[in-house]
Amino acid sequence: MVILRIPNENVLLEEHDKIRSYLSNIGIDYEHWEPVPAISPDLPPEQILTIYEKQIDELKKRGGYITADIIDVNPNTPGLDAMLAKFNVEHSHNEDEVRYIVSGRGLFHIHPDNGPIVTIEVEQGDLIRVPRGTLHWFDLCGDRHIRAIRLFQSSSGWTPFYTNSKIDQRYEPVCWGPTYIPLHSPTK
Ligand SMILES: [Fe+2]
Repeated sequence: MVILRIPNENVLLEEHDKIRSYLSNIGIDYEHWEPVPAISPDLPPEQILTIYEKQIDELKKRGGYITADIIDVNPNTPGLDAMLAKFNVEHSHNEDEVRYIVSGRGLFHIHPDNGPIVTIEVEQGDLIRVPRGTLHWFDLCGDRHIRAIRLFQSSSGWTPFYTNSKIDQRYEPVCWGPTYIPLHSPTK
């Protein structure tokens, strides 16, 4: 279940419509697409892209994306901590960050210009678009597993521009999903 929280205002939303509406007001697109086929955890990325071809084509049409790939991380991924360290501090990109979650979970923090910082816990079937220039950061949940389709507007792909604000250190990356598993302490 997708969960949106506004930590500084003690707000928690769980309904897709309310979450979509709130996020839309701060410029973030969110949708939940059903049905999502059950796929084997061992399925190679090329086959996942084939299974989701229709959805990917729809997204490409909407956002002018030209390429798609699969990000697939789990506790056995080599260099996982170093990879996470690139995502979990405040940054922006000069293209949209679009993720369609195939399996697993993750936690986005969004730092909008026009409102408080929001956390969104995404899971299978969730589609999120963080527009270019939006400040954000991303953590895995306690099970450290996510498989997602990524879409890109240029073949050069995804480059983070860090703010070095350290504001991310003030927010504990806690997932509230099926099992409550804190990832690590707020003083990372
Ligand atoms: Fe990002």
